Amino acid sequence: MAMLALMFTITLVQFAGEGRSGWQPKSDLVKRLSERRPSVIYDETQVPRYTLPDPLVCLDGTRVTAPEIWREKRRPEILELFRTYMYGRAPIGRPKEMKLETFDHAREALGGKAVRKQVRIHFTGKPDGPSMDLLIYLPQDAPRPVPLFLLLNFNGNHAVCNDPAIRIKPTFDRRTGEAVMPSEESRGQDASSFPLEKILARGYGLATAYYGDIAPDFPGSFGHGVFAAFDGLFGEERPADAWGAISAWAWGLSRAMDYIESDGELASRRVGVLGHSRLGKTALWAGAQDERFAIVISNDSGCGGAALSRRRFGETVALINRAFPHWFCENFKRYHHREDDLPIDQHMLIALIAPRPVYVASADEDLWADPRGEFLAAKAAEPVYKLLGTNGLPADEMPPLDTPVRGRIGYHIRSGGHALAEYDWERYMDFADLHYGHRR
Ligand code: GCU
Repeated sequence: MAMLALMFTITLVQFAGEGRSGWQPKSDLVKRLSERRPSVIYDETQVPRYTLPDPLVCLDGTRVTAPEIWREKRRPEILELFRTYMYGRAPIGRPKEMKLETFDHAREALGGKAVRKQVRIHFTGKPDGPSMDLLIYLPQDAPRPVPLFLLLNFNGNHAVCNDPAIRIKPTFDRRTGEAVMPSEESRGQDASSFPLEKILARGYGLATAYYGDIAPDFPGSFGHGVFAAFDGLFGEERPADAWGAISAWAWGLSRAMDYIESDGELASRRVGVLGHSRLGKTALWAGAQDERFAIVISNDSGCGGAALSRRRFGETVALINRAFPHWFCENFKRYHHREDDLPIDQHMLIALIAPRPVYVASADEDLWADPRGEFLAAKAAEPVYKLLGTNGLPADEMPPLDTPVRGRIGYHIRSGGHALAEYDWERYMDFADLHYGHRR
């Protein structure tokens, strides 16, 4: 009997360890995707065996047994590993010359429901240097200062909301890098990813900027945007650990935070940094480095974001670097098909956010982003959260669809595909309410 019980426990542990329990992808989808790209792993049984680096063991082999050792030794060490091998190093913090120019402050925006501000952040202080426009909406009637969600957007501030007062700036073609002036008709084209009225009604503000204002997203990106302005600080040649675009975008989020801290109407200690997909990778990296962000949220960030690289499920290190050679630093390219040699994996990125609340969200049909790999990374960050005296992710296996799990680490997998949907926003606001102690 005792023997049987033991066997049963072992099997269960192995089953969970294999990552095959809880949510399952639709089998017809797995079949279709596998047929379309036979070299990509879409079938859980093909995931190789792997061992994750222990976030609580230092490079010199010593174990992290106390919060101080985490803070003083292991956390800086892991940050440095991500800078060196993956995202690359941003050459500067807040530039001394940076200037903030508020060019719009409307007290009666969106038919009287909102206050709108637009701020141009001149990164070099020079009017002809790179600049980022931060668009902010605050609820009219909420108490001040207002907690915010901050996120970068893909297609320009004017695409977020059909408000004719939003300043239109050129955007960059993702293939060629060519600057294009968006049309008036494209105002509000992405509004479904920014449910502004709902956000305001729940007492939150929204702050957003176009990621291309920081650096254009195309393979020739270096030499443009903040790269052109600051890469000179590296000397003649770009080092193998120089910042890639994800690092640059994350740096831009910190500059938005610099503004937020300067504006008394904004609750700078209750800023949730959020991002979808490549911008979800960006939000995680920004939140990992900059502890001013109170909550960090990854929406379908996948490979290079919340998903474990070692699983090689869906998009892999080799595939992402080939398609987007400008996203990560050069050193990361040494790990194609060699994920096990990386001294890091993405659970350690999430662990860098500890003990601050972090939320990872996946989507049922978004197998390219490896939902299970995202869940397992969130779960594997838990020992650090616990060491720091909080709870972690209160789930031992993936929850069913549309069933959020909320601890200091939150997670859900939503029905549907790769998108930032209203459902996701609602869960992020619930999560923020919970951690900020807001009553509804
Ligand atoms: C591609 C890429 C992903 C990325 C996504 C996006 O699919 O492979 O890594 O997250 O684009 O940003 O939409």
